[in-house]
Amino acid sequence: MENLVPEETIEEIRQHFDLVEVISNYTVLKKSGRNYLGLCPFHSEKTPSFTVSAEKQLYHCFGCGAGGNLFTFIMASENLTFKEAITFLAGRAGVSLPERPLSSGEKKFKVLKEELLRINEVSMKFFSEALFSRKYGSEALNYLKRRGLKESTLKEFNIGYSLASGESLLLYLKKKRFAEENIEKAGLIIGRSRGSGYYDRFRNRIIFPIFNQQNQVVGFGGRIMDDSHPKYLNSPETPLYNKRRILYALNFSRYHIREKDEAVVFEGYMDVITAYQEGLKNCVASLGTSLTEEQAETLRRNTSGVVIAYDSDAAGEAAAWRGMDILAKAGCRVKVAQLPKGMDPDDFIKKKGKRAFEKEIIEKSLPLVDYKLEKIQQEIGVKAFKTPDEKLLYMKKIIPVLAELDNRVEMDVYLQKVSSQIEVQVDSLKLELKKFRNAQRRPKSFRKNEPEIEVNKENPPPAAEKEILAIILKHPQYISEVKKWLKKSDFCYAPFREIVDKLFEAGEKEKKFTEHTILSLFPGSEQQKNVATLILDVEKNPDCREKIIKDCIKKIKCSNLSLKRREIEKEISKLDKQQDGEKIKELLVEWTELKRLEKDY
Ligand code: CTP
Ligand code: MN
Repeated sequence: MENLVPEETIEEIRQHFDLVEVISNYTVLKKSGRNYLGLCPFHSEKTPSFTVSAEKQLYHCFGCGAGGNLFTFIMASENLTFKEAITFLAGRAGVSLPERPLSSGEKKFKVLKEELLRINEVSMKFFSEALFSRKYGSEALNYLKRRGLKESTLKEFNIGYSLASGESLLLYLKKKRFAEENIEKAGLIIGRSRGSGYYDRFRNRIIFPIFNQQNQVVGFGGRIMDDSHPKYLNSPETPLYNKRRILYALNFSRYHIREKDEAVVFEGYMDVITAYQEGLKNCVASLGTSLTEEQAETLRRNTSGVVIAYDSDAAGEAAAWRGMDILAKAGCRVKVAQLPKGMDPDDFIKKKGKRAFEKEIIEKSLPLVDYKLEKIQQEIGVKAFKTPDEKLLYMKKIIPVLAELDNRVEMDVYLQKVSSQIEVQVDSLKLELKKFRNAQRRPKSFRKNEPEIEVNKENPPPAAEKEILAIILKHPQYISEVKKWLKKSDFCYAPFREIVDKLFEAGEKEKKFTEHTILSLFPGSEQQKNVATLILDVEKNPDCREKIIKDCIKKIKCSNLSLKRREIEKEISKLDKQQDGEKIKELLVEWTELKRLEKDY
């Protein structure tokens, strides 16, 4: 993330606020020792684990790991980018942001985007007027009413209609003095393949404007009114419209999603609009089957729980599963709703009402893993597993699902469940799981120069790496000393390695750091969390910091050497004494050398 606002201005804004006061607007904080403690605003909890340090102006949640400073807090709780958070806070602090001179390319792009927004806005009005005009829109309006949408809903979602003639929008926009070139960039017209000129992309379709979170129209979806194909036409990718990012209706539902701490994700426009109209307002649509990482990240910033409510056929598709996994990886509690065969949420709500949908579908939705287990069982097609063949087949299919779990408790729960389903000992399942994981593991090239620790909940970061990193984050004057001894690749724990990389690089350029300039080096929320946790970690022996640094360096070096030795041992054990005698000798020499180095440290 580029820092477009000067450092002094950022500092001025930061100084203006007291983090404790700011956070108090979001959760109740009580003084507890040197810090303040409250319920975490980012995940639901019963006992407070959200800590704010008034002195350091940093926060950290021991429950969900959220952490950072004023800016990260506002970014996370208002769902803003860094730049937007600065603007948000600057306004409240009465600090004016100097206009950074844009490069000419940036200027052009900004001007273009503004023009495309105007074109979209004018087009949306044009579509909407057409829908409500007697002369052109009555068929479309009747269609929508037949599908149960009220006029107020149509107005709220700005639904419209594109005329059947090939260029009515084009002519209208040209009359408004928009350039064809820009209308094309907005995705609203298409160049004729034969001859010159353009024609409207959307013809004789119901139009659903797609908004970003700032309520700006960034694209459109158009539905045909009969059974012809394609059923939907959507805006292409434009400077405004990025399919990977957009969640349809989030601009309307964001508030409700936050309030409930739950989002219902539908597939289609119609599902969301019907649900919203009937009062189920914490919903969005993914506009396709597979959720992207960007969409998952956006959801995660707004809620911790997500219910996937796809059409009955779609939820089982591989792409849908991938999307659900992405959501779970982003840190959401994912549940999957199961709809009656052949029914989509829109049908269900219209037929049985919102209440029934909540009671029979949402409340009965299954946690992702349970859902997968059930689907696999359905696939095998038995009510209970009786024959050895059935049991084996089931086990084969569920092992990869279980292998995804990185939480021990969860793992235990599901091992128990499967164990009783197929009447097999938990230990045997564990063994199979281990086999599967070993087979999965990428064949490691022999003695990688960079030993790496896999990041999962069972592998805590090496203590020495953690300790030394915490020190140099808090006391950047030691960066250059540490850099003399350690390379970034000496850090085995991948998240730390990234942090070290940035620190070493920054240490070269800049000498003066504060905790906040350090934090701003790390735009990713994952890294910021790690960094904030490390900074907030209390230093045990500030008096012998230098000695601790030395010890840590030694420990890190030694443990890497011994890791390398172990890899050599493994390699030797795989070789054959008769055939590979020479190779073994070489390896032994190397092994001895490593051992000697280790002793020397
Ligand atoms: N979709 C699309 N292009 C298609 C079909 C579907 O972009 N040819 C997207 C649309 O965003 C659509 C979503 O996938 O909203 C779900 O598809 P579907 O369930 O078929 O559409 P619905 O919105 O449910 O529309 P309807 O109820 O009118 O069939
Ligand atoms: Mn549908």
